[in-house]
Amino acid sequence: MELPQLKIDNLTARLPIIQGGMAVRISTGALAGAVAATGAVGVIGASGMAFDELRKEIAIARKLAGGGIVGINIMFAAREFWGIVQTAIQEKIDLIITGAGFSRDIFKVGRDGKTPIVSIVSSARLAETAQRLGAAAIIVEGKEAGGHLGTDRSVWDIFPEVLKAVTLPVIAAGGIVHGADVCKAIKLGASGVQMATRFVLAEECAAAPQYKKKYQEATKDDVVLISSPVGMPGRAIRSAFVDKIVAKKAPRPVGCDFCLKHCSLEYCIIQALINSQKGDVDHGVVFSGENVWKIPDRSIKPAARIVAEIVAEAGAC
Ligand SMILES: Cc1cc2nc3c(=O)[nH]c(=O)nc-3n(C[C@H](O)[C@H](O)[C@H](O)COP(=O)(O)O)c2cc1C
Repeated sequence: MELPQLKIDNLTARLPIIQGGMAVRISTGALAGAVAATGAVGVIGASGMAFDELRKEIAIARKLAGGGIVGINIMFAAREFWGIVQTAIQEKIDLIITGAGFSRDIFKVGRDGKTPIVSIVSSARLAETAQRLGAAAIIVEGKEAGGHLGTDRSVWDIFPEVLKAVTLPVIAAGGIVHGADVCKAIKLGASGVQMATRFVLAEECAAAPQYKKKYQEATKDDVVLISSPVGMPGRAIRSAFVDKIVAKKAPRPVGCDFCLKHCSLEYCIIQALINSQKGDVDHGVVFSGENVWKIPDRSIKPAARIVAEIVAEAGAC
């Protein structure tokens, strides 16, 4: 199948693939820019970044993107949500994707700042609400996704319900790791897909080598659900720290800076994500989608090669 373009508001991506935003500092400007340069959409995971840091990462992405589309992803659960949104709009980001919670007020801010807002949802009801409030597109994320999860249902079950409920472009996310999955989504009526897990093995991904090694070695049984202090479950690869979370023995936060609007204080998720990003995976959380073990070739390679391989796989179906 030849992949169609992806249209969101006044933006047109040559490929219907969005590289999902990954915090903390897993998808930075280097990855987003490299992906955008291929004709797909590159996304900076902005949760946990300082405002000046985000400005720098947007500039890095822009330089690499060669005119390609660059967005940011921000968790609504983050205390600095509005500061990140304003910073991204000031820096003239192409689009803002919001997940891990739902903001009703962001659509007006996006309209005023002439920036399309794309909502990640896990139900037809929330998709309808997002459309009514002014979203430019909907990403339907199923339980197969990495990071924080809004549902225990498969994307393939929720997707047709959302497609029926809205007229906006609908993008499928969660467990899509192969071009054949992209074909399947497009044939079902998706305008595109959002893929994150497959892009962690890109050279440009900012995660430490130890983090990427967890991806390279993960088996099906290594990918587990954990509780997160955000108040939603998360999907991650087993490590010494993840085993402690599962056993309810993770250490309580020390030196909390109240980075989340609501936090159960079960453990510090941001510190755990920072530790693993820097390579201390035994004291950290390595988020991953359910199908990491199905990635066809888990060597580390340039993002452009990953995109070319996905397109070739899709071409063969
Ligand atoms: C390491 C990692 C970090 C993530 N961080 C975020 C995030 O900060 N915000 C968000 O909305 N989604 C986040 N996600 C979810 C992805 O953006 C994406 O929607 C999802 O993982 C798609 O499923 P896949 O990874 O199986 O392709 C993260 C996923 C991973 C794997």
